Amino acid sequence: MTASTTTAGSAHSADAAAGQCPVNHHGFEPFEMNDPFPSYAALRENAPVMFDERINYYIVSRYGDIKAVFDDWQTFSSENAQAPVRARSAAALKIMNDGGFTAYSGLSARIPPEHTRMRSIVQKEFTPRRYKALEPTIREHTARLLAQMLAHPDAMGDFLADVAVDIPTVTILGLLGVGPEMVPTYKKWSDSRAAMTWGDLSDEEQIPHAHNLVDYWNECLRLVADAHSLGGDNLVADLVRVQGVGAEISDHEIASVCYSLLFAGHETTTTLISNTIRVLLSHPQQWQQLVADPSRIPAAVEETLRFSPSIVGWRRKALVDTEIAGTAIPQGANILLLMGSANRDPEIFEEPEVFDLNRPNARNHLSFGFGIHYCLGNMLAKMQDKIVVEETIKAAPQLRLINPETIAFGENLSFRAPTSVPVTWEA
Ligand code: HEM
Repeated sequence: MTASTTTAGSAHSADAAAGQCPVNHHGFEPFEMNDPFPSYAALRENAPVMFDERINYYIVSRYGDIKAVFDDWQTFSSENAQAPVRARSAAALKIMNDGGFTAYSGLSARIPPEHTRMRSIVQKEFTPRRYKALEPTIREHTARLLAQMLAHPDAMGDFLADVAVDIPTVTILGLLGVGPEMVPTYKKWSDSRAAMTWGDLSDEEQIPHAHNLVDYWNECLRLVADAHSLGGDNLVADLVRVQGVGAEISDHEIASVCYSLLFAGHETTTTLISNTIRVLLSHPQQWQQLVADPSRIPAAVEETLRFSPSIVGWRRKALVDTEIAGTAIPQGANILLLMGSANRDPEIFEEPEVFDLNRPNARNHLSFGFGIHYCLGNMLAKMQDKIVVEETIKAAPQLRLINPETIAFGENLSFRAPTSVPVTWEA
């Protein structure tokens, strides 16, 4: 992976060598996720709509502008939401074409009227009743994973690997009729999807990921074929059934929905769970408040979504010549909406850099987007996070972070995910 700092550094020195004024990006590095927040503050203050020539995107950083763009789907389409940020190499494309890779976005990059038609069918599957039915299994699964972690003889664990990876992955795989033994395989495919779409891979680095995407897509096609031949009590079988009673959704579209859900349905929730535990344990007093009063866990979930969102930037494309906050945006321009910055906009959130369980408007964060594409799985994600925090507080109220300053976040344009959450406890 190319380090974005190196890219920016060389661009600056090339400018300097040519005697030109270096471009001021206000510290913003598109793929750098360790601590992007100071650069967000600088952007909001100095360049709320900035063209970034390194990635060819307009970067929008203020809450009001971001919400308005999300809301105006007639002017700003989501059709680039799943486009690779870096062009796919010829070798990767050949692997994908030869492997029959024709996956398209489930919903997020589709536009009306196609999006409206498909969303109205798919969202019927995301009911509070269905979530409620999952709750006991998720709770029991969480308790089991926690017990396994807490049995470690050295009283040391990685909350991400030991708990946060499995919970949402098993849940979404189960909803789609896939067994838990497939978790490592789907994790591998999802990592490839994140890297191939939102990452900064060299041509050579793309090759193994291209093979993984082919396997992933063929598995989605197989799920739909199996639902036709075997039926079953899962979301894919349901979509095939409604297709039989007049719902306008094709097999390819159902497979694309699987392709989306088998990624969107766990990656970001694993990050949410990891971040909730990480941020709470970094604020021991607030952790103790939750231990004393678990009824405040939903507030902790919302404040984590605001303070440390799983997705810090999401994309739109201008369909016509337009403007954002007085900056002209040409037709066809790519736009990156920094929700991670919106969530810390002092115009909306008082003392935004402070993590505060008592924040009255935390739930106004934009971490699930806004408007017609608003995240379909938001309730499922929040429910799972709440259950994990409840069970953790019961099983390990003495949990502590080990060396929080060493926790790193992988390079990516959109997803800000810690690579580990090392914890310890009283043996
Ligand atoms: C913390 C967890 C999650 C976060 C932060 C998150 C975030 C997002 C964001 C930012 C969008 C785009 C919204 C827009 O363009 O306006 C989105 C869309 C979507 N999400 Fe999530 N998501 C999460 C969990 C889930 C889960 C668990 C599922 C499914 C089980 C899911 C399914 C979807 C779908 C299907 C869409 C596309 C909706 C559409 O275009 O109509 N997400 N999500």
